[in-house]
Amino acid sequence: MYAVVGATGNTGRPLAEALLARGARVRVIGRSAERLRPLVEKGAEQFIGSVEDRDAMVDAFSGARAVYSLIPQRLDVDDLRAYQRKCGEAIAHGIKKAGVEYAVNLSGIGAQHTEGTGSIAGLREHEDRLNAVVGLNVVHLRGGYFFENHLHGIDMIKKLGVAGSALLPDLSIPQVAARDIAAVAADLLLELGFSGSSKRELLGERDLTMREAVGVLGRAIGKDKLRYVQFAYSAAEFAMMTMGVSQGVAQQLIEVSRGFNEGRVVPEEARSAENTTPTSIEEFSEVFAKAYVGEG
Ligand SMILES: NC(=O)c1ccc[n+]([C@@H]2O[C@H](COP(=O)([O-])OP(=O)(O)OC[C@H]3O[C@@H](n4cnc5c(N)ncnc54)[C@H](OP(=O)(O)O)[C@@H]3O)[C@@H](O)[C@H]2O)c1
Repeated sequence: MYAVVGATGNTGRPLAEALLARGARVRVIGRSAERLRPLVEKGAEQFIGSVEDRDAMVDAFSGARAVYSLIPQRLDVDDLRAYQRKCGEAIAHGIKKAGVEYAVNLSGIGAQHTEGTGSIAGLREHEDRLNAVVGLNVVHLRGGYFFENHLHGIDMIKKLGVAGSALLPDLSIPQVAARDIAAVAADLLLELGFSGSSKRELLGERDLTMREAVGVLGRAIGKDKLRYVQFAYSAAEFAMMTMGVSQGVAQQLIEVSRGFNEGRVVPEEARSAENTTPTSIEEFSEVFAKAYVGEG
């Protein structure tokens, strides 16, 4: 039995689908039966509960040999690091009490640093927390910048005619499809060939600048001249807040951008066949185009 946290999200959903397609028993964890239903229809067992709830995580993981864990993204909390800590402690407690032997945990590039990287430092803290669970075999998947982040820019493109963030326009960074992270997680979970604590960086098909990525996405929606605009940190924080993001979360996300721009959020390894993943931004642009017209 595999327990999948965040089973309706960017990485959890394709992971749960991949495990089910290979005939595995899967328990999908989320807060809404309606959102979990497509997975239940494919044979998954559902568990409704919050990752912030320690007792719920014990029940969610009981009987599972392996867990896929992540700290779900939240945009509305005042203190993002405290929220990450609460979820992380509940997950670690559940793993310990339920006697889970294996975990694949979603982290991010830049997690080699314990500060100066915003919410990524919270992911690092969670790596350390899971590494301290006696007897747990755990792999931390350190993903690059998700392609899916570009979907949050659709509203801005429609309203302002540009795509923008606080990231430098010409900084080449690893950008990766969430489904490729899910595919690696599925292989690791089906084989259970890892022991102790380890990490694996997943860097996408190639490094990309924001200008280049936005150019490809623009062409996919028929806007050949779509421009990427870098916002000042204060303007980006303000823009996020007008979209309903709390100030505390906006500040953490700005610190992530600053971490990229100042060279802290970088991979530790050189690019290799092992950390390169298949999906290109050109392939993802088809998903983007569907989402742009409301079919995603
Ligand atoms: N975006 C990036 O570039 C990037 C890069 C590297 C690492 N990361 C890390 O990746 C993680 C997010 O992974 P993801 O994108 O796969 O997940 P996600 O899409 O943010 O969320 C996964 C699911 O978690 C569920 N959820 C939310 N709050 C919950 C709660 N309190 N209890 C139980 N379930 C809850 C939601 O489903 P329901 O609403 O159906 O419950 C959501 O669909 C974060 O830790 C982020 O820091 C992100």
